[in-house]
Amino acid sequence: ARKRKESMLAAHDLVAKLYHHLLLNTDHGVQARNYLLNRHIQLATIEEFGLGYSPDRWDFITQHLEKSGFSPFLMEEAGLLSRKDRNSRPFDRFRGRVMFPIHNSQGQVVAFGARTLGDEQPKYLNSPETPLFNKSQLLFNLHRARAQIRKQQEAVLFEGYVDVISAWQAGVHNGIASLGTSLTEQQARIIRRNAETVILCYDSDQAGIEAAFKGADLLVAAGCTVKVAQMPKGMDPDDYIRQYGGERFRQEILLNAASLTAYRLQVIRSRYALHDETERMKFIHEAIEEISLLQSAVERDHYLRQIAEEFHLSLDAMKLEQKKIRKQQK
Ligand code: UTP
Ligand code: MN
Ligand code: MN
Ligand code: MN
Ligand code: MN
Repeated sequence: ARKRKESMLAAHDLVAKLYHHLLLNTDHGVQARNYLLNRHIQLATIEEFGLGYSPDRWDFITQHLEKSGFSPFLMEEAGLLSRKDRNSRPFDRFRGRVMFPIHNSQGQVVAFGARTLGDEQPKYLNSPETPLFNKSQLLFNLHRARAQIRKQQEAVLFEGYVDVISAWQAGVHNGIASLGTSLTEQQARIIRRNAETVILCYDSDQAGIEAAFKGADLLVAAGCTVKVAQMPKGMDPDDYIRQYGGERFRQEILLNAASLTAYRLQVIRSRYALHDETERMKFIHEAIEEISLLQSAVERDHYLRQIAEEFHLSLDAMKLEQKKIRKQQK
């Protein structure tokens, strides 16, 4: 088993280098080079992340691996090749895509994320689960960002590979992403081992908001302090950086990240028409419910005061209401 894994690792290393070379130095890579340029991904970043291109062929990698002495069937198990069924011949899994190498914690390439140049589906094709690649236990870019994350005791968690890369280019070197799935308990624990605080920096769409809530719960359970950075509606971090620049991303998005409670209150608030008195009362009630869930009395007091002041209510009335709610919650 050890030998098989070593062979799979060696093949990933070889193929990553080949994809990278094809992107930068050959005619195969012209379109992908232009694609990355258009997305403002610089040459130094392509080098840093080892980005590549898989030619639009059925047997390019297959032949290369075979010539280098790798068993095609083992390479299919490693996720580099595909097969129609058990009896047919393996062929290149990734064709005509920009290749994003995914590393394990030791910095070895164990998988790829692969994006189309156009709008074919799926937009991203990822390596399958293999003996090398356990999606629920890896985080994209962690091996590269770990030193910085530990030093700052803060990680920025993104949804997409390109968000991590764009942010890196903007000087944010503590960015990581889960791998095309929602955050898992194991990933949350890994993050906690490296940092106290996590800034969630997800896409500003319904899916992103839901993912942020789910991820936040897992991170809090793992013992992290969670903040939420918010992008203007419809944008993701990469869109934002391209439009407004890295400086503004760091100053206005990351530094202004809200505490998780402030963020939750804001989302609740957005569901009510606060100029209407009945709606306002409903909002205040729901807000107190949310605040009641906080473990820390100091934090509860802080947010209750905020709402009391904003809506000209007495803190005593708010606290009374909260007591009732806390009794019901028990
Ligand atoms: P997004 O759809 O937000 O992609 O998915 P993106 O990162 O903004 O992509 P660009 O900017 O169009 O290139 C976020 C992440 O979800 C996973 C990938 O990991 C992606 O980075 N994903 C998305 C998939 O695995 N498959 C898909 O088809 C789409
Ligand atoms: Mn290089
Ligand atoms: Mn998205
Ligand atoms: Mn996105
Ligand atoms: Mn994007």
